[in-house]
Amino acid sequence: MAAGHERATRLARVTVLTGRLMLWIFFVIIAYGAVAVVLALTVGVNDVPRQDIWQETVPMALLAAALAATVVAQEMRPDRAIKYRQGIMYAMNVNFGVLSRMAKGEIPYNKDQAVRAASFVNELVKMPWEGFVPVSDSGNTKAKAEIWKDKAKFDKYAQEVQAETPKLVAAANSGDVAQLRTAVAAVGKACNNCHDDFQSK
Ligand code: HEC
Repeated sequence: MAAGHERATRLARVTVLTGRLMLWIFFVIIAYGAVAVVLALTVGVNDVPRQDIWQETVPMALLAAALAATVVAQEMRPDRAIKYRQGIMYAMNVNFGVLSRMAKGEIPYNKDQAVRAASFVNELVKMPWEGFVPVSDSGNTKAKAEIWKDKAKFDKYAQEVQAETPKLVAAANSGDVAQLRTAVAAVGKACNNCHDDFQSK
């Protein structure tokens, strides 16, 4: 099991490196092509009219640029993946904090505000998971490497919190603070279950 995950992580690492290498190769080809076009247009090519050079090289250059852009877009670089998931976790926490303070009576209960915050949490909670890509267990992160050794357990916690947040929305809509308190406790527990196992202090 652990060996399989290590192999998967190594494979992901190789994939990222291969992606980067391909990107560089694209850039070199594009730069080389650009130089060739400039030379052809300024110095000229025997017997080939300049118009033909334009017509044949520009579409190829655009195609190469489009391919390069696709490669860039598809690669979720580890540092971006880390920022992405932390940003969403943070935004989720800000909104959850509003509900938590209302439940504790630290701020007055306000239905509109509660419904808004609960709806945000319920949407945001769908998002951070795709940021937990392999090869993102080092750098500016508190994600433990155990996530990728026991991804099934991590995913289970992610499912559990997503099963709780719709109840948070319902409780906020009910206008009943006691119900909100119960839902806040359940969601908070689902957040902490995962943090206890997979977030370093
Ligand atoms: C399935 C696991 C899991 C669940 C569920 C989960 N988290 Fe997290 N959370 C993490 C991990 C892992 C990190 C560390 C991410 C990193 O540093 O790359 C994190 C980080 C955070 C952070 C710190 C973000 C920052 O600024 O770096 C906050 C705040 C947070 N989570 C709030 C929440 C809240 C609120 C919930 C519940 C609504 C929640 N989390 C549910 C795993 C989880």
